[in-house]
Formats: sequence, C-alpha cells, structure tokens
Amino acid sequence: MPIDRNLEGQHAIITGGSRGIGAAVATALAARGASITLMARSIGDLREHAATLQELGGPVQVVECDVADEASVDRAFERAESGLGAARILINNAGTAKSAKFAATSRAMWDLMIGVNLTGTYLCTARAMPAMLAAKNGRIVNIASTAGLRGYKTMTAYCAAKHGVIGFTRALALETAKAGVTVNAVCPGYTDTDLTDTAVDNIVNALGKTPEEARAMLVAIIPRGVMTTPGEVAAAVAWLCAPESAAITGVALPVAGGEVT
Ligand SMILES: NC(=O)c1ccc[n+]([C@@H]2O[C@H](COP(=O)([O-])OP(=O)(O)OC[C@H]3O[C@@H](n4cnc5c(N)ncnc54)[C@H](OP(=O)(O)O)[C@@H]3O)[C@@H](O)[C@H]2O)c1
Repeated sequence: MPIDRNLEGQHAIITGGSRGIGAAVATALAARGASITLMARSIGDLREHAATLQELGGPVQVVECDVADEASVDRAFERAESGLGAARILINNAGTAKSAKFAATSRAMWDLMIGVNLTGTYLCTARAMPAMLAAKNGRIVNIASTAGLRGYKTMTAYCAAKHGVIGFTRALALETAKAGVTVNAVCPGYTDTDLTDTAVDNIVNALGKTPEEARAMLVAIIPRGVMTTPGEVAAAVAWLCAPESAAITGVALPVAGGEVT
C-alpha cells in the first residue's frame, strides 16, 4: 500500500537521527513528505544516513549538535531554520544509556544521563516551541523508554532521566493543548540498535554470559518474545505526527511488545 504523504513540506528535526531509532524515524517522516534535518554529534554518520533519504524526495540537511550543550543546540537550530525554515515537527530522540549498580553510579554518569536524555529534550523543545506556538501548529514527540514507566535494576540514572522526560511531556502538553501543538512520548522497550548491543556487552562483562545468553535475558522480559524494531517505533512516531492525531497529546505510548501495559 502506498504511504500517505500527509507531512508534505513540513520541516521535521530529528535529534540522534544518524542511527537506530532516530534514523528509522527520519526515514518514516521523509517517506511521508517531510523535509528533514538530522542532528547528532558525528557529522560522518549523519551524512551517511542523509544519503539514504535523498531518494525519498524531500530536502534533507545534516547539522552537528550535542543536545546536552546549550550553545551547540542554539547554533544547530539557527542553521536548521536558516536552511529549511521553522520546524513544525521535533523528535527528541538523541539519548544514551549506561547501567551500573546505584553504589557505582558516579556523579559523572548521573550528569550524562540527565544531560543528554532530559536536559537535551528541554533545550531542543525550548528552541522549537516559540515558532510552533506562533504558527498554532506543531508536533513534538519525545523518545522516552519503558524505563520512563517502570524501574530496571542498575539503571537508576537512566530511569530517572526517562521518567523526567515523561513528566515533562505530560506537563507541557497541558500548556500547549489549546495552541495546536501536541506533545507526546513514545516509550520503546528493548529495540534492536547499537544501544541495545551495549546493554548486551554490559551483561556479558558483568555476568560472564555469552552474547546469545545476554540477548535471551533481555528478550525474556518481553511478552511478545521478540525485541521491538526501529521501524515499529518509527511507525508510532509518524502516526503521532499526522494531521489526524491532533487530539492525542500528553500520552506516553509504550511500543514494547506488552512489557508495560
Ligand atoms: N534501543 C533501545 O532498546 C531503546 C529502548 C528505549 C528507549 N530508547 C531510546 O531511544 C533513543 C534512541 O536510541 P537508539 O537505540 O536508537 O540509540 P543509538 O543507536 O545509540 O543512537 C543514538 C543516536 O543519538 C545520537 N546522540 C547520542 N548522544 C547525543 C548527544 N549528546 N547529542 C546529540 N546526539 C546524540 C547518536 O549520534 P552521535 O553519537 O553521533 O551523537 C545517535 O544518532 C534514545 O533516547 C534511547 O534512550 C532506546
């Protein structure tokens, strides 16, 4: 079935758009006609994914950005807006996950988890919101996690950050509900990306398991029995960005094979 190009001409900024879930979201939005800005720290990875989007039709640009650094976010949004105009869609996807028992959670690890996952979401949203409010038209989707809805052992800092993203989403959605701007969170469970490969490596190193046993331990907590794919997360994001999703705001939508119900 052909994909409905219901986002034709809308400028979408996707942070962490070079790999994994962000790359899949960019592909899904480009296929629906959106103009795309990909942001991340590594310009080489961004260019690689941008090349795969060119064939989908709309303009694509790449902008270097560290979402945890306010000056970097300011510079990146100036460049993004001067290239493709104000964003109508913002996907706060850039994130990082580190695990450690609480006793071994250093202040540096805490600051990194909060800085990238939560403060990054705040900084990019603050930069995009004024133009969305002025246009009375906007879609913000924050890629949180099931770690924003439940706890996981050895993930206090990451869980705190992702719970924060969901609280931020719910509160902001109330403020913008009358202004044509929806704010939602999508909460993937374990999804097949580099980030999950790191989780597998951690289990291998900490518990002496093989990589296959480590992956099986992660899959065992998913009722569906398989990991989520980046494309499945992207489909949920694209749906929340669609014009017909205007009534959906302030939700935290699990895409997790039944892990959180
Ligand atoms: N994979 C999972 O199982 C899973 C489950 C639930 C939630 N999530 C969430 O989904 C999002 C994407 O995860 P993923 O699995 O796709 O991760 P990934 O494959 O590791 O990709 C992460 C992306 O974020 C970018 N990034 C990392 N730190 C950044 C920073 N400080 N500033 C700007 N960009 C940054 C990376 O590019 P650079 O390194 O070049 O900056 C990359 O493009 C994250 O928010 C993650 O917490 C993932």
